[in-house]
Amino acid sequence: MKILHLDSGLFVEQSISRKISREIVAHLSQQKPTQVIYRDLVSEPIPHLSAETLMANNDELATTLIAEIKDADILVIGAPMYNFTIPTQLKAWLDRVLKAGVTFRYTEQGPEGLLTGKTAYIASGRGGKFSSGEQISLDHQETYLQQVLAFIGITDVHIIRAEGVAMGDEPRQQALTAAKEAIAAI
Ligand SMILES: Cc1cc2nc3c(=O)[nH]c(=O)nc-3n(C[C@H](O)[C@H](O)[C@H](O)COP(=O)(O)O)c2cc1C
Repeated sequence: MKILHLDSGLFVEQSISRKISREIVAHLSQQKPTQVIYRDLVSEPIPHLSAETLMANNDELATTLIAEIKDADILVIGAPMYNFTIPTQLKAWLDRVLKAGVTFRYTEQGPEGLLTGKTAYIASGRGGKFSSGEQISLDHQETYLQQVLAFIGITDVHIIRAEGVAMGDEPRQQALTAAKEAIAAI
């Protein structure tokens, strides 16, 4: 089994999304012999798109990143909520891997994702709570990631979430316990 493991949380030691993504990979690795490709999108950032890169049509980095996804059975993506969406480092990665004719295409029936047959786990950390109640419409992190992955054909997406981690010690502990239980249930 091949796992592509990405992290995009700015902090290292205290990062919740990194802790969850690491534990998901460890849990999956206990189930089957596993080969892991790891990308820290913060310590080795993907440069933002430029007109030159797009027009040159020989974006080697995009080719490499797409090959990593194609090669993987499972994606594990550490994705904290920053300003209601994903970190810019993760967006820069998405900007390279969403490529018309390569990872998706338009047909007469509409768009078709080309990276099918894969599973993704999103390790989501959030200071507040957005999975229910009035705040739900502010979630442009998990919903966006699910939609964009589906667009390229990755429809089997599981969210492992610790939310409300900035709301006090008790909510934080509850969130971490919930995430731990969700990992154990994979
Ligand atoms: C730059 C920045 C922006 C953030 N924006 C939000 C936000 O919009 N909503 C929220 O609930 N929490 C927000 N938080 C809190 C993080 O989502 C929370 O701390 C989460 O655990 C971050 O994951 P990490 O520990 O892996 O960095 C933000 C944190 C940072 C550093």
